[in-house]
Amino acid sequence: MNTQMLADTAKLLVADSKGLLAMDESDPTCNKRFALLNIPQTVEARRTYRELIITTPGLGESISGVILYDETIHQKKRDGTAFLQVLADAGIVPGIKVDTGAKDLAAHPGEKITEGLDGLRDRLKVYYQLGARFAKWRAVIAIGEGIPTRGCIEANAQALARYATLCQEAGLVPVVEPEVLMDGGHTLERCRVVTEEVLRTTFIQLNCQRVLLEGMILKPNMVLPGLACPPNKEVNEVAVGEQQYQVRLTDRPPDEQEDLDEVANLTMKTLWRTVPAAVPGVAFLSGGQSPELASARLNLMNLRFKSQLPWALSFSFARAIQQPALEIWRGEESNVKAAQQALLHRAKCNCAARRGEYTAAMERI
Ligand code: 13P
Repeated sequence: MNTQMLADTAKLLVADSKGLLAMDESDPTCNKRFALLNIPQTVEARRTYRELIITTPGLGESISGVILYDETIHQKKRDGTAFLQVLADAGIVPGIKVDTGAKDLAAHPGEKITEGLDGLRDRLKVYYQLGARFAKWRAVIAIGEGIPTRGCIEANAQALARYATLCQEAGLVPVVEPEVLMDGGHTLERCRVVTEEVLRTTFIQLNCQRVLLEGMILKPNMVLPGLACPPNKEVNEVAVGEQQYQVRLTDRPPDEQEDLDEVANLTMKTLWRTVPAAVPGVAFLSGGQSPELASARLNLMNLRFKSQLPWALSFSFARAIQQPALEIWRGEESNVKAAQQALLHRAKCNCAARRGEYTAAMERI
C-alpha cells in the first residue's frame, strides 16, 4: 500500500477550502429527479446533464473532486472528449461510487445493508487504471421504532471497513459514508445518539480492518432532527469543548439562528467524540437539507470551531449543489448557461462556508 500517496490524495481533496461534488446518482435515482421536472429519463439526457455539470466554467476553483458513477466514468462530451479528460483539464480529481446499493437486511424489517463487496477488488483495479483516485460507499441507517439495531449498524460498519481497505490496497482514497437518514419524526437528540453510535462502531471496524486513517475521508450526516419532527421547546444543557450550550431537542424553522446553533454544536460534539484526529477530512453529505441551510450550517461549524479542529470540515454534497441547477436546466439547451451559473454559485457558497465567510447576503446576488 502506498501510504504517502493515499495521504496526499486525501489531503488534496480537502485542500484550499474546496469540497467534493457528488454526481453519482444511480440511474433510478437520477431518473426520479428528472421525472419530477419532466426531463426525459434516457441515457442521453443523463449524459447531457452530467456534461453540463463538469463543463461548468471555473468549477475547479471550488471543487477538488467529483464522485462519478459507472455510467458516467465511461462517458464523453458531445464533441467526443472523455469526461475524465474534462476533469483532468479542470484540475478536478475523479472519484467513483463503488457500492451497488442498499438492499433489505434479512431479518431486520425497515433496515438496509449496502452491497457491492463481491468482485470489488477487480473493479477497483479497473477504476484506478481509468484514472479514479478516490471512491465512495454509502451505508444508510434509518431511525424509527426499535431501529437502528446493533445488527444493522455492525453489518454496515463492517462492510464500510472492508470496502475501505480494498480501496487503499488499490490506491484509491475511500470516502466512508455512514448516513443516518433524516426521514422520520425523531428528535435532534435521537439523531445525535444514533450518529454517535454509528460513527463509533464505524471507526472500531475501520481500525479492525487496518484502514489507514490518514488516507481516508469521512462523509457523515450533520446531526439533524427528522424531517417530520414536531416543534418542541424542551431545553438541554450540552457541553461542547469547554463551553456549555443550551440546546432544544428538536429543530426550528430554518431562518432562526438558534436552529443553526443547535445543529452546529451537536454535530461538532458528536464528531469530536468519535472521529480520530488522524483523519484528514470530514466532508458532510447534505441529505435533503435545502442548499442554503446546508451552507449556513457548514459555515457556522467552521466559523465557531475551525481553529480547534484536527480535521478539515468540508462538503461532499449532491442535492445541495445540484438541485437549483437541475431545476433551471429542465432538459433545455437554452438553460445550460444559467444552470451552470447556479451550480457554480452553490459551489462557491460552500467554499465560503468552509472559511466561515458565508452570509445570507451571498444568496441575493
Ligand atoms: P446528498 O448531498 O444529496 O445527500 O448526496 C450525497 C451523497 O453522495 C449521497 O450518497
